[in-house]
Formats: sequence, C-alpha cells, structure tokens
Amino acid sequence: MRLFDTLENWRRFRAGCVGSVGLAPTLGGLHEGHASLIRRARAENHVAVVSIFLNPTQFNDQQDLANYPATTEADLAKAEQLGVDAVLMPSREAIYPDGFRFRVEEDDFSRELCGAHRPGHFTGVLTVVMKLLNLVRPQRAYFGEKDYQQLSLIRDMASAFFMDVAIVPCPTIRAADGLALSSRNALLDAKGRRLAPKLHEMLRADSSDGAVAEALAGMGFEVEYVATREGRRFAAAAINCGGKAVRLIDNVPFDGTERAPGGP
Ligand code: PAF
Repeated sequence: MRLFDTLENWRRFRAGCVGSVGLAPTLGGLHEGHASLIRRARAENHVAVVSIFLNPTQFNDQQDLANYPATTEADLAKAEQLGVDAVLMPSREAIYPDGFRFRVEEDDFSRELCGAHRPGHFTGVLTVVMKLLNLVRPQRAYFGEKDYQQLSLIRDMASAFFMDVAIVPCPTIRAADGLALSSRNALLDAKGRRLAPKLHEMLRADSSDGAVAEALAGMGFEVEYVATREGRRFAAAAINCGGKAVRLIDNVPFDGTERAPGGP
C-alpha cells in the first residue's frame, strides 16, 4: 500500500494507474462501516483508493472537530489489511490553497434536516468531495447510507456538474443492537452506549415523527429532528456523556404514510 501526503506525488501515481479507480473518502476514525465501503471499492475496481482527510470546513462546531477521533496509525493498518492500493492523506493547506474562497453550495435539500442545525456543513462536504473527486478522478466513489442526506446531495452534485463518476450507495452497517456504526460512537460513555440503539429502534416505530421525537426526549436524548422525507425517516439526537453532547444521526426506509416533520 502506498501513502501519499503530497498532491505532487499523488498526481504522479494517479497518472500511472491502469484500469478503473474506486475511491472511499473518509475523515479517518475508520470502523466497520468504512470497511464495507473499502471492500466494495477493492472488489469493483482495479485500483482501490482511500482518502483520509479531517475536513475542517464541514465542522460548524470547532469543539466537534477537536473531539473527532484521530486514529491514523490504526486507520492505515486497517486500509492495508483490506487490500487498499493507495491512501491519500493531504494537508489542509494542500486541499484549500484558496483558503475556502471557492465553494460548492446547494440551495435546497442542504438547508433541511442536518443542514438546518449545522449551518455551512453541507457546503463544506460538497466542496471537499468535489476537490477529492477532481484529484482522484475515480470511476466509482463509495458513500454510506448512514449519511443519507450527504449521499443524496453528492449524487445530485455529480449529476448537476456532469461529473464522470458513479456515486455508489452502501448500506448502513449496524452493531448487533441496531446502533449505526459511526466514528462518534467512540465518544459515548457506558450509559450513553446503552441508550444509543434506542434511536434506531424508535425510528422504526409505527408512530408519527412527533411521537417518536417525544419518546426519544423522554428517554434522555436531546432531539434535533425526526422527519420523514422521500420514503425515509431521518433523525438526529445527542446524548449527554459527562457534560459532552455526543450527536448521533440515523435513517431508515419508512413505509408508513409520509408525515409532516414534527406533525401528529
Ligand atoms: O462522510 C464522511 O466521512 C465525510 O463527510 C466525507 C464524505 C469524507 C467528506 O469529508
């Protein structure tokens, strides 16, 4: 496995790649959810690439950025074990030579759900994904359905800008108790970890979005939203772990009649 921390070396490697390239973009903190994207990138392409870049522009809360688990050595070992050919791990300066002067902004769905609570988040995500796709030029790029709103916005961006890449959705990977795998789960204390799977359980409950939000709040979650869109139910809620709020998101296909967010 080759590790690239400068764009110059990366570009030289990319120019020599033969056949299809598959990219699994990550913020680091690799877990089994990432592993499922990487396995597909490995299986479906001649060259499997993982990017590890803790993108500062998608963190509206600087504390959240500071708390993000930094596990580079373990990440590289995992990538190698999964048969990755190349890891791109650029510096912030390399990715933002313009100082974030140029941005990709979406004017509709990015303002809803997580976007309504994390101003600028999806602008940061779309901008960095555009940059990574331009640098790596993969035939396929793999994104998890756990971040379904992100996946949907990236798919629409690729289509809107006529980008020559297939955006491949990958199913959410869950712990045995239903909790969606996320790098943030590492921040949960024992009590928080016991409560966390209730988010998934309640999302699947046959009750209104409003009733689910109320039930979650009653259990001790700080609920951001529970909302149904396009046949899926989405939620974001935080658990207080020793004074620190650990924010979790999840979504499930939802067959019930679509209801207004927070409605009866
Ligand atoms: O889902 C993530 O890990 C990040 O938002 C992504 C797609 C790597 C962009 O920084």
